[in-house]
Amino acid sequence: MTHLEPHYRMTPPDRLPAKEKQPVHAVLHNVRSAFNVGSIFRTADAGAVTRLHLCGYTACPPNAKLQKTALGAFDYVPWTHHETLADCINHLRSEAIPIAAIERVEDSVPHTRYEWPRPVAVVFGNEVKGLTREELDAVDTVVSIPMLGHKNTINVATAFGIVLFDILRRWQAV
Ligand SMILES: C[S@@+](CC[C@H](N)C(=O)[O-])C[C@H]1O[C@@H](n2cnc3c(N)ncnc32)[C@H](O)[C@@H]1O
Repeated sequence: MTHLEPHYRMTPPDRLPAKEKQPVHAVLHNVRSAFNVGSIFRTADAGAVTRLHLCGYTACPPNAKLQKTALGAFDYVPWTHHETLADCINHLRSEAIPIAAIERVEDSVPHTRYEWPRPVAVVFGNEVKGLTREELDAVDTVVSIPMLGHKNTINVATAFGIVLFDILRRWQAV
Protein backbone atom coordinates (compact mmCIF):
# COMPACT_ATOMS: atom_id res chain seq x y z
CA MET A 1 0.00 0.00 0.00
CA THR A 2 1.34 3.45 -0.92
CA HIS A 3 1.08 6.14 1.71
CA LEU A 4 0.67 9.59 0.21
CA GLU A 5 2.53 12.36 1.98
CA PRO A 6 0.12 14.92 3.47
CA HIS A 7 -0.38 17.80 1.05
CA TYR A 8 1.30 20.30 3.39
CA ARG A 9 4.58 18.52 2.97
CA MET A 10 4.42 18.07 -0.78
CA THR A 11 5.47 21.51 -2.04
CA PRO A 12 8.60 23.15 -0.62
CA PRO A 13 7.92 26.83 0.18
CA ASP A 14 10.43 28.09 -2.42
CA ARG A 15 8.47 26.26 -5.13
CA LEU A 16 5.06 27.67 -4.17
CA PRO A 17 3.51 30.45 -6.27
CA ALA A 18 3.91 33.86 -4.56
CA LYS A 19 0.78 34.91 -2.64
CA GLU A 20 -0.05 38.51 -1.91
CA LYS A 21 0.40 39.25 1.80
CA GLN A 22 -2.10 41.26 3.86
CA PRO A 23 -0.53 44.16 5.81
CA VAL A 24 -1.24 42.58 9.21
CA HIS A 25 1.55 42.02 11.75
CA ALA A 26 0.59 39.68 14.57
CA VAL A 27 2.48 39.93 17.85
CA LEU A 28 2.36 37.12 20.43
CA HIS A 29 3.74 38.07 23.83
CA ASN A 30 4.64 35.26 26.25
CA VAL A 31 2.16 32.79 24.73
CA ARG A 32 3.13 29.69 26.67
CA SER A 33 1.42 26.89 24.75
CA ALA A 34 3.24 25.73 21.62
CA PHE A 35 -0.10 24.24 20.48
CA ASN A 36 -1.66 27.72 20.58
CA VAL A 37 1.29 29.19 18.66
CA GLY A 38 1.04 26.40 16.05
CA SER A 39 -2.67 27.01 15.63
CA ILE A 40 -1.99 30.75 15.21
CA PHE A 41 0.63 29.99 12.51
CA ARG A 42 -1.98 28.00 10.61
CA THR A 43 -4.61 30.74 10.84
CA ALA A 44 -1.96 33.37 9.97
CA ASP A 45 -1.21 31.46 6.77
CA ALA A 46 -4.95 31.31 5.97
CA GLY A 47 -5.14 35.10 6.31
CA ALA A 48 -1.82 35.78 4.48
CA VAL A 49 -0.42 37.65 7.49
CA THR A 50 2.76 39.61 6.64
CA ARG A 51 4.72 38.55 9.73
CA LEU A 52 4.33 36.89 13.13
CA HIS A 53 6.38 38.52 15.90
CA LEU A 54 7.11 36.02 18.69
CA CYS A 55 8.08 37.85 21.87
CA GLY A 56 9.51 36.78 25.23
CA TYR A 57 9.07 33.06 25.91
CA THR A 58 6.55 32.47 23.10
CA ALA A 59 7.43 29.14 21.43
CA CYS A 60 9.37 29.44 18.14
CA PRO A 61 9.96 26.89 15.37
CA PRO A 62 11.45 24.31 15.33
CA ASN A 63 9.27 22.78 18.05
CA ALA A 64 7.51 19.40 17.86
CA LYS A 65 4.32 20.58 19.61
CA LEU A 66 4.13 23.67 17.45
CA GLN A 67 4.55 21.54 14.34
CA LYS A 68 1.59 19.39 15.37
CA THR A 69 -0.95 22.23 15.19
CA ALA A 70 0.82 24.39 12.58
CA LEU A 71 0.91 21.45 10.11
CA GLY A 72 3.90 23.03 8.37
CA ALA A 73 2.34 26.52 8.12
CA PHE A 74 5.44 28.11 9.67
CA ASP A 75 7.21 27.45 6.36
CA TYR A 76 4.80 29.95 4.78
CA VAL A 77 4.46 32.63 7.45
CA PRO A 78 7.52 34.86 7.99
CA TRP A 79 8.32 35.20 11.68
CA THR A 80 10.77 37.01 13.96
CA HIS A 81 11.66 36.43 17.60
CA HIS A 82 12.05 39.51 19.83
CA GLU A 83 13.55 39.18 23.31
CA THR A 84 11.03 41.67 24.71
CA LEU A 85 7.69 43.17 23.70
CA ALA A 86 9.34 46.61 23.94
CA ASP A 87 11.89 45.57 21.25
CA CYS A 88 9.04 44.50 19.00
CA ILE A 89 7.05 47.70 19.60
CA ASN A 90 10.15 49.79 18.80
CA HIS A 91 10.60 47.87 15.56
CA LEU A 92 6.93 48.34 14.54
CA ARG A 93 7.11 52.05 15.45
CA SER A 94 10.23 52.44 13.27
CA GLU A 95 8.07 51.17 10.39
CA ALA A 96 5.20 53.53 11.37
CA ILE A 97 2.76 50.63 11.87
CA PRO A 98 -0.20 51.44 14.17
CA ILE A 99 -0.41 48.98 17.07
CA ALA A 100 -3.60 47.62 18.68
CA ALA A 101 -3.45 45.38 21.74
CA ILE A 102 -6.20 42.76 21.84
CA GLU A 103 -7.40 42.53 25.43
CA ARG A 104 -10.70 42.75 27.28
CA VAL A 105 -10.29 45.70 29.65
CA GLU A 106 -12.63 48.50 30.67
CA ASP A 107 -11.30 51.14 28.28
CA SER A 108 -11.13 48.82 25.24
CA VAL A 109 -13.06 49.34 21.99
CA PRO A 110 -15.12 46.35 20.74
CA HIS A 111 -13.64 45.10 17.46
CA THR A 112 -17.07 45.47 15.86
CA ARG A 113 -16.78 49.26 16.29
CA TYR A 114 -13.07 49.67 15.57
CA GLU A 115 -11.87 51.02 12.20
CA TRP A 116 -8.78 48.88 11.59
CA PRO A 117 -5.92 50.97 10.19
CA ARG A 118 -4.01 49.52 7.24
CA PRO A 119 -1.30 48.37 7.90
CA VAL A 120 -1.92 47.25 11.47
CA ALA A 121 -0.15 45.28 14.20
CA VAL A 122 -2.27 43.31 16.68
CA VAL A 123 -0.79 42.17 20.02
CA PHE A 124 -2.01 39.12 21.96
CA GLY A 125 -1.00 38.12 25.50
CA ASN A 126 -0.32 35.16 27.76
CA GLU A 127 -3.06 32.55 28.26
CA VAL A 128 -3.39 33.27 32.00
CA LYS A 129 -2.10 36.78 32.63
CA GLY A 130 -2.95 38.47 29.34
CA LEU A 131 -1.20 41.82 28.74
CA THR A 132 -0.28 44.07 31.68
CA ARG A 133 -1.53 47.64 32.10
CA GLU A 134 1.98 48.88 31.30
CA GLU A 135 2.02 46.86 28.06
CA LEU A 136 -1.44 48.15 27.10
CA ASP A 137 -0.28 51.73 27.74
CA ALA A 138 2.60 51.22 25.28
CA VAL A 139 0.31 50.71 22.26
CA ASP A 140 -2.10 52.98 20.35
CA THR A 141 -5.45 51.31 21.12
CA VAL A 142 -6.92 48.39 23.03
CA VAL A 143 -9.51 46.35 21.16
CA SER A 144 -11.74 43.66 22.69
CA ILE A 145 -13.96 40.83 21.53
CA PRO A 146 -17.43 41.10 23.11
CA MET A 147 -18.30 38.16 25.39
CA LEU A 148 -22.00 37.30 25.57
CA GLY A 149 -21.63 34.28 27.88
CA HIS A 150 -20.38 33.88 31.44
CA LYS A 151 -16.61 33.84 30.83
CA ASN A 152 -14.47 36.96 30.41
CA THR A 153 -12.10 35.69 27.75
CA ILE A 154 -11.55 33.00 25.13
CA ASN A 155 -8.57 30.96 23.96
CA VAL A 156 -5.83 33.16 22.47
CA ALA A 157 -5.73 31.26 19.15
CA THR A 158 -9.51 31.60 18.80
CA ALA A 159 -9.23 35.32 19.61
CA PHE A 160 -6.56 35.62 16.91
CA GLY A 161 -8.84 34.02 14.28
CA ILE A 162 -11.77 36.30 15.14
CA VAL A 163 -9.64 39.45 15.00
CA LEU A 164 -7.72 38.52 11.84
CA PHE A 165 -10.82 37.68 9.82
CA ASP A 166 -12.65 40.77 11.11
CA ILE A 167 -9.73 42.89 9.81
CA LEU A 168 -9.74 41.10 6.44
CA ARG A 169 -13.51 41.37 6.07
CA ARG A 170 -13.47 45.12 6.84
CA TRP A 171 -10.66 45.62 4.32
CA GLN A 172 -12.80 43.63 1.86
CA ALA A 173 -9.94 41.18 1.40
CA VAL A 174 -12.27 38.22 2.00
C1 LIG B 1 -7.19 33.84 27.81
S1 LIG B 1 -6.68 35.45 27.51
C2 LIG B 1 -5.81 36.00 28.96
C3 LIG B 1 -6.57 35.96 30.27
C4 LIG B 1 -7.26 37.25 30.62
N1 LIG B 1 -6.36 38.34 30.83
C5 LIG B 1 -8.14 37.05 31.83
O1 LIG B 1 -8.12 37.90 32.69
O2 LIG B 1 -8.86 36.05 31.85
C6 LIG B 1 -5.29 35.30 26.43
C7 LIG B 1 -5.22 36.35 25.38
O3 LIG B 1 -6.27 36.13 24.45
C8 LIG B 1 -6.79 37.35 23.98
N2 LIG B 1 -8.23 37.41 24.33
C9 LIG B 1 -8.97 36.39 24.78
N3 LIG B 1 -10.24 36.74 24.93
C10 LIG B 1 -10.34 38.04 24.54
C11 LIG B 1 -11.40 38.98 24.44
N4 LIG B 1 -12.65 38.68 24.78
N5 LIG B 1 -11.12 40.22 23.97
C12 LIG B 1 -9.88 40.55 23.62
N6 LIG B 1 -8.80 39.69 23.69
C13 LIG B 1 -9.04 38.46 24.14
C14 LIG B 1 -5.96 38.45 24.61
O4 LIG B 1 -4.93 38.84 23.72
C15 LIG B 1 -5.39 37.78 25.84
O5 LIG B 1 -4.17 38.38 26.24
